[in-house]
Amino acid sequence: MAEAVSPGLIDLRSDTVTRPTPAMRRVMAEAEVGDDVYGEDPAIRALEERVADLFGHEAALFVPSGTMGNQIGMRLVCEPGQEVLCDADAHVVTYEMGAAAAVFGISTRTVVSAGGLLDADALIDQVRPRGDWHLTATAAVAVENTHNRGGGRVQPLAELQRLWDWSRGAGVAVHLDGARIWNASVAAGVELATYGRLADTASVCLSKGLGAPVGSVLVASAERIAVGRLWRKRLGGGMRQAGVLAAAGSYALNHHFARLAEDHEHARLLAKRLGVDPATVETNMVVVDDVPAPVVAEAAKAQGVLVSQVSPRRVRLVTHLDVDRTAVERAGDVLAALLDR
Ligand SMILES: Cc1ncc(COP(=O)(O)O)c(C=O)c1O
Repeated sequence: MAEAVSPGLIDLRSDTVTRPTPAMRRVMAEAEVGDDVYGEDPAIRALEERVADLFGHEAALFVPSGTMGNQIGMRLVCEPGQEVLCDADAHVVTYEMGAAAAVFGISTRTVVSAGGLLDADALIDQVRPRGDWHLTATAAVAVENTHNRGGGRVQPLAELQRLWDWSRGAGVAVHLDGARIWNASVAAGVELATYGRLADTASVCLSKGLGAPVGSVLVASAERIAVGRLWRKRLGGGMRQAGVLAAAGSYALNHHFARLAEDHEHARLLAKRLGVDPATVETNMVVVDDVPAPVVAEAAKAQGVLVSQVSPRRVRLVTHLDVDRTAVERAGDVLAALLDR
């Protein structure tokens, strides 16, 4: 069992480690709630309507996690026995416990990409048509933006547009894993609605950079969301008076969206201090390659800095709401000394 992290540590493992601020906790405590399984929770309804609107979709569904949002989202556009095509390092196939296959009978096929960056043609090349009795039909393509294992890279808008334009004629759906779409929007100056109109289903997380403790939102057409609501219940994700959580999400959208620029600035600062190519740091993640990751992580921890070991030779640092500039500078000093930079 992992130990609780002491508040004095500078935790750069992930932006999921943030704790709700006192102001967020107050809003949660005061949220007007109802039974959401009956569709009667005003805080959840308000959040769903707002997020649907932000992404230019008809409807939305509040779900407990990004994993549930992704898996229901993919199920809405892919039948059992069909496949979803995605990048080999995508969260949906790397970190979601094989859910697409285990829960939904969905086959996944992957294409290796450079740093997770979308190459629409490379994916399109691999798509297998429906109606051929030899082949597993590709029903959907899943795209992750920003790309987690790619180090927070932002997907190029032109590639997203190219995939979308092609997908309309091909009858293939596009699912967006937008756990950190907020970071992409802030970094690239692209409206959320622009990303939204390039996806049939999109799962967006409130519990990453936005700093809410729990929750993601799945957006899609009203018809698909009605079916998604059934899937959520079937999976045990009907959460009753979860308006206290939705209120945290709404607060996060009001107060923690624009400030992501600060996290990005902090990541650039860390990269500069550690001699990491600034071109690889587009949002709130810094990837340091060719280092003995377990040794670095252990030594940094001994000096109060937590980092992620992504592979034996790679560590990852993620900036977020709970690390201010002073903490970032201190972490930079500790890591620069350890890495001899
Ligand atoms: C890109 C991406 N998608 C989906 C998820 C899943 O979110 P959750 O942990 O809420 O299930 C994560 C979690 O870190 C993620 O990084």
